[in-house]
Amino acid sequence: MYDVIVIGSGAAGLTTALESKKQGYEVLVISKDYPTFSQSCQAQGGINALLDEFNDSIDEFVEDTFKASRQIANKKQIRKIAKLSKDSINWLSSLGVPFTKDLNNNIAQRRFGGTTKRRTCYSSDYTGLKIINTLYDNCIKEDIKFLNEEFLLDIAVENGVANAVITLNINKMKISKYESSNIVLATGGYSNIFCENTTNSFLTTADGLAIAYKNNAKLSNMEFVQFHPTALKDTNILISESARAEGGYLLDKNYNRFIDELKTRDEIARQVYKKVLKKENVYLDLRHLGKEKISKQLPQERTLALSFANTDIIKEPLSITVAAHYTMGGILVDENMKTSIENLYAIGECAQASLHGANRLGGNSLLEVIAFSREVVNVFKKEFIKSNVDIQKYKKSLDLLLHKEVKIDFYEVKEELSKILFEKAGVIKTNNSLKQALDYILVQKNNLQYMGIKDKSTYYNRNLVDFLEFKNILLISELFVRSAISRDESRGSHYKEDYAFEDENFKKESIIQKGYNGPFICFKAFL
Ligand code: FUM
Repeated sequence: MYDVIVIGSGAAGLTTALESKKQGYEVLVISKDYPTFSQSCQAQGGINALLDEFNDSIDEFVEDTFKASRQIANKKQIRKIAKLSKDSINWLSSLGVPFTKDLNNNIAQRRFGGTTKRRTCYSSDYTGLKIINTLYDNCIKEDIKFLNEEFLLDIAVENGVANAVITLNINKMKISKYESSNIVLATGGYSNIFCENTTNSFLTTADGLAIAYKNNAKLSNMEFVQFHPTALKDTNILISESARAEGGYLLDKNYNRFIDELKTRDEIARQVYKKVLKKENVYLDLRHLGKEKISKQLPQERTLALSFANTDIIKEPLSITVAAHYTMGGILVDENMKTSIENLYAIGECAQASLHGANRLGGNSLLEVIAFSREVVNVFKKEFIKSNVDIQKYKKSLDLLLHKEVKIDFYEVKEELSKILFEKAGVIKTNNSLKQALDYILVQKNNLQYMGIKDKSTYYNRNLVDFLEFKNILLISELFVRSAISRDESRGSHYKEDYAFEDENFKKESIIQKGYNGPFICFKAFL
């Protein structure tokens, strides 16, 4: 039994763990991989904060974020992270995050897209990585307990109250139950539904969302997926927005600039994608920044471009494309990060905390993660509720899976699903294309009975984990596409050619929940 169980070991999970420990809670972090592999590393460009109160203000922070959200965020929530932002940066600094300093030895800030002020603190272009490494070092110092390579199978919920997690140890294939009255999902987003076109590592397979949904939690804004406008062509490796923040240009096939590079990601991604669709090359040009600036501020981007595109950004423009990068939708939480299931919390990209709406500003996710993970601990329950859930049924279904005959290769379906989603439900879509994507998903849902695992071994069975992840991906793909079909307008990252404008009637968050006859969707206005 633990006071707090955190699932996921990215920046949200590690921060929650550190703060829990500080407040005297016994905490366990469960992760399907290892902390230093987390997707938070990909938040290369920085973390937003209000540090210079002479030249910036909470009101301006709120307005920029709200405008980018296309008016479907909760201003109170944005105000809350803006107020917590300075303290969040000071906390990270005190732990040892090496933020880049300006000439006056203050933490430097760069201007990211969609903002009116320089608000993004950074550690050259390795910000997420430095934060993760520092948080993990501190967790080790604090002797926080980690269970790595432990896959989340389910959350035990009795009478609407979460009281344990059921996991599968990937190495030993052992199923276990861990009890707690404070269960925090910090499992990341669902960009891997676009696994062939994402900047994300293979980890973001929506496990937390799928399990929360199956247990009747509400998910929200699932139709909003952010495509990053500068991923490396062919490999989709992220080239950070810091490249544009430092003055990089976007060039068309004739080497002409075609857009203000500091517009929001949704607008830029759409313009880039239109060119990609016409098979035209699009370039990120950094040559004019010079060797010294590139080496100091963008060392990672240079290395990535050299290693994966054989391009030296000091000398040549870099071919880029769009790729799914961040998912604004997630498990609906209130202002205390509580989900619609008692004792179950969600933090970071797996949560929909009414901050980002239809389009997230770069740098706001790391801030959300740090600020809210430190806050959530204040609402944890002290009393312990025993779990009566029996893990036998999980053992049985694992056994069935190990003995099941396989007729359809799910890896092929996963790849095809990703391509179909990118083409029909990606940057630009129509109701017709979305319905084609949904038809495909429903066929594959039915085909699940013929899918399974070929590797029957009971030691480090990656094939099994891939299959469990695939089932989560398939479910969340359905919820994403259904939500997109329901929103008959275009707003932020959700762009429907047949409804090309914002519609006042949809100035609302979508909510999707399990119903008697499948997923049930409604829209909720802000009060
Ligand atoms: O482009 C980037 O550096 C990504 C940052 C973010 O997603 O916040």
